[in-house]
Amino acid sequence: MSTAEAPLALVSGATSGIGLAVARLLATQGHRVFIGARDAARIEATVKELRAEGHQVAGRTLDVRQDTSVRDFVAAAVDQMGTVEVLVNNAGRSGGGVTADIPDDLWHDVINTNLNSVFRLTREVLTTGGMRHKTRGRIINIASTAGKQGVILGAPYSASKHGVVGFTKALGNELAPSGITVNAVCPGYVETPMAQRVREGYAVAYDTTEEAILERFTAKIPLGRYSTPQEVAGLVGYLASDAAASITAQALNVCGGLGNF
Ligand SMILES: NC(=O)c1ccc[n+]([C@@H]2O[C@H](COP(=O)([O-])OP(=O)(O)OC[C@H]3O[C@@H](n4cnc5c(N)ncnc54)[C@H](OP(=O)(O)O)[C@@H]3O)[C@@H](O)[C@H]2O)c1
Repeated sequence: MSTAEAPLALVSGATSGIGLAVARLLATQGHRVFIGARDAARIEATVKELRAEGHQVAGRTLDVRQDTSVRDFVAAAVDQMGTVEVLVNNAGRSGGGVTADIPDDLWHDVINTNLNSVFRLTREVLTTGGMRHKTRGRIINIASTAGKQGVILGAPYSASKHGVVGFTKALGNELAPSGITVNAVCPGYVETPMAQRVREGYAVAYDTTEEAILERFTAKIPLGRYSTPQEVAGLVGYLASDAAASITAQALNVCGGLGNF
């Protein structure tokens, strides 16, 4: 494949954890990659790091909660790199607590960051990004096993990720005849900075140590350990490939057996 023909992939939240592993793998598989997240310095550092590895990567700041930011992000990607063939909606946040005590701000921010963002960025990529006129496209949404089962003290997070799974199934069916597939990847426990913050939150909620929470969570996973960001990226890379052309409207787990549904 020549440089000019390399397909363009957009990855939100690509400066950390799963998103960074996805950006690196898609680039390794021959995509040009355009990345976004809120922190400009981390975008710059990540672009530099991936370019130093020989990848064709660019990026700009993106806040998936903001319409204008999403529009500017996709417009910049198209300006600099052309139309979009692969979209990975990865940016997300944790968030929850005792449901009766959850303030409106927290509820809305989790839903906005994890669910409304997926609609916003997807619509923008289909339109401004040019994907709706293509005969091949890939939309891959990073949901969660919490998008298939309820997580205690995680009502907003679970609700947002169930929403992502529902959106994925509906859009996958809608776009199936077009050659654009839409799938959700559902990680279980993955060792990232977010996983660390989640353990801190549960340690406070249960008045115990982070080590005790880690032990409790790990005990629930049949594999006996957290998944790695690279293992999640591996499924994203497969879904982006030609071999996955008939997989659409699915929500597939990468979770060490945590959820078998
Ligand atoms: N780790 C797990 O155990 C796990 C399990 C299931 C699902 N997931 C899902 O996997 C995805 C990635 O999680 P992770 O563990 O890799 O998290 P992470 O290490 O905290 O990375 C999150 C990334 O998203 C970006 N981000 C956060 N809010 C954003 C916003 N409003 N707009 C744009 N970018 C934003 C962050 O950069 P900035 O802060 O600079 O914006 C960062 O690049 C999330 O959707 C998460 O829900 C994670």
